[in-house]
Amino acid sequence: MDNHTSFTVTPLERTPEQKINFGACVTGVDLNKISSDDVNRLKAAIWRHKVIVVKAQHDLDPKKQWELVTRLDPKASDGHSHGDLNAFRAKGGLLAQGREVVGIPGAENVRLIGKGFQGENHFGIVNHIIERGLSNDFHAVPPSVEEFEQGITRFQRWHIDAPLYGKDPAWFTTLRCVTLPKGPNLTVQWADGSGQTMQSPPGHTAYFSTSQLYLMLSPEEQALVDHSWVEYAPYPYKWIQKCKGNTNGLGLAEGGERLTEEELGEYDTTAVKKYPMVWVNPLTGEKAFQVHGICARKLYLRSSKEEQPRIIEDVAEIRRFILSIQNRILKPEYILLAPAEEGDVIIWDNYGLFHSAIDYPINMGPRSMHQANISGSIGPKGPVPIPLMV
Ligand SMILES: [Fe+2]
Repeated sequence: MDNHTSFTVTPLERTPEQKINFGACVTGVDLNKISSDDVNRLKAAIWRHKVIVVKAQHDLDPKKQWELVTRLDPKASDGHSHGDLNAFRAKGGLLAQGREVVGIPGAENVRLIGKGFQGENHFGIVNHIIERGLSNDFHAVPPSVEEFEQGITRFQRWHIDAPLYGKDPAWFTTLRCVTLPKGPNLTVQWADGSGQTMQSPPGHTAYFSTSQLYLMLSPEEQALVDHSWVEYAPYPYKWIQKCKGNTNGLGLAEGGERLTEEELGEYDTTAVKKYPMVWVNPLTGEKAFQVHGICARKLYLRSSKEEQPRIIEDVAEIRRFILSIQNRILKPEYILLAPAEEGDVIIWDNYGLFHSAIDYPINMGPRSMHQANISGSIGPKGPVPIPLMV
């Protein structure tokens, strides 16, 4: 940062137990009238710190939030990374059935997400109740009603914001906290036999760094994932719409039926996505093990450029392979609960993090968030080129 920086970036404080190496607060900027230089500095701060909490944006105009999204990736030409709302409802599968998504009038690419009654007039949306917002119904074994009422909950679903078909994932996601629920801390249970739990204020979003995960791999494993790639299913969220998730929110539970090609319907073979397993941060050069396991249809594994890839098509084997890596970082000391308050805007690097919402009992009040991102102008780059024609 040079001397002309008009805002301050402060890395988040960590307790001695925490091993998180990312996250920062940004103060002293007004996103309604941010200069081009500051947009570039903000972008660098996101790539470097992975998630930033931009403080005190109470008066942000939704149109300006969308404008910021487009300025952070000025070569991006498409709208919201999941397409328009009609396309999202038709093909969004697991994402669309679990959530009710409404655009903000006048800034339709900025989407209202959350839970409960959104107020008599929420930025032009009248008397709207989000019934199917946050929920633990993705889990094969959700907490009981009694447990949930006592504040026992789960990570909803660990993911990246990525259509994984047609459009490339957004570089960044912006999430404005308009209204947050209020109440005592929730207990997030892994409920997977590990006994792990975490305390979280209601309404928070959780993150882990897939760059930190990459650093946990052995040199042999790093060589393997550096050279390997993933093919995602067409309409991947529709493909898995009958599946349920693990209790810790990471990956699909064992078994689970995928839709057949006939059930999926026609698709465009050129829109099917193949991405490297490792995505390189364009600013820092850090490598991230960024595999969206729930949507993966084939793995191509090799440890060098010369090797012929071993192709894995069995979904149970794909699941085992990916979870054997990702489960290493699903520990409280590596998980950040972004400390956002009402009025703050969270922006994160969607190429180097996984994130999850956390459901809460509705008696803690409504949650109103404005989410916006744009399909990336350039998709993820791996450490070595992958042969897309295999
Ligand atoms: Fe998300």
